[in-house]
Amino acid sequence: MVSVAARWLEAGRGRNTIGVVTHDVKLRTAVPGDYDRIAAVVDDWWGRPVHHILPRLFLDHFHATSTVAEADGDLAGFLIGFLSPSLPDAAYIHFVGVHPGHRRGGLARELYQRFFALAAADGRTVVSAITSPVNERSIAFHAAMGFTVTDPVPGYDGPGDVKVHFERPLTPADAAR
Ligand SMILES: CC(C)(COP(=O)(O)OP(=O)(O)OC[C@H]1O[C@@H](n2cnc3c(N)ncnc32)[C@H](O)[C@@H]1OP(=O)(O)O)[C@@H](O)C(=O)NCCC(=O)NCCS
Repeated sequence: MVSVAARWLEAGRGRNTIGVVTHDVKLRTAVPGDYDRIAAVVDDWWGRPVHHILPRLFLDHFHATSTVAEADGDLAGFLIGFLSPSLPDAAYIHFVGVHPGHRRGGLARELYQRFFALAAADGRTVVSAITSPVNERSIAFHAAMGFTVTDPVPGYDGPGDVKVHFERPLTPADAAR
C-alpha cells in the first residue's frame, strides 16, 4: 500500500495545491506525527465529541493514503483514507474535516479527488464511507460528490447505532485527474 502511494506521489500527483478558491492551501501526504494536531480539533470542527472515532492507529498505519491541508502551516483540513487490505477493489474514507473558516471553497472536494486518483491508480473500483444520520452536512457533501446514499442502517456498529452508508464507483477518469 505504501509503495503504491509513494509511486503516485513520485509521479508528482501528491504535490497539488488548490489554485482557484483557496490559493493559500497546500495539500501533502499525512505523516504519523499529524495525529495530535488533528485529534485536537475534531470535536470543535464536528461540533460534537467524535475524537474516539479517530484513534492514533489511523495515522500510524494509513498515513500514506491520507492527506493534510495546510494554510501558512496551520491545519486547514484533512482526509483519512485507506486502500482495503482485504477487498482488492475497495477504498475507504474514514474521516474528512475542513476548518470552519475554509469551508465551501472546494477543499473537501479537492481532498476527495486526490484520494479518488490515488485509489483508482491502484486499480480500486469503488470507494465508500459512512456517517451518522444526524450529519446532514456530510450527507449533502457526499451526495454532491457523486456517492449513492443509503437509508439509515440500524445496528450498523452494534445495538443502538445507526449509520448512513455512501458508495461511489471509481473509473479510469478518476485516476487521470
Ligand atoms: C463536510 C465538510 C468536510 C465539507 O467540506 P467543504 O470543504 O466545505 O466542502 P466543499 O466546499 O468541497 O463542498 C463540495 C460540495 O459539497 C456540498 N456541500 C458541502 N458542504 C455543504 C453544506 N454544509 N450543506 C450543503 N451542501 C454542502 C456542496 O454541493 C458543495 O459544493 P458547492 O459549495 O459548490 O455548493 C465540512 O463541512 C466539515 O468538515 N464538516 C465537519 C466534519 C464532517 O462532518 N465531516 C464529514 C463526515 S466524516
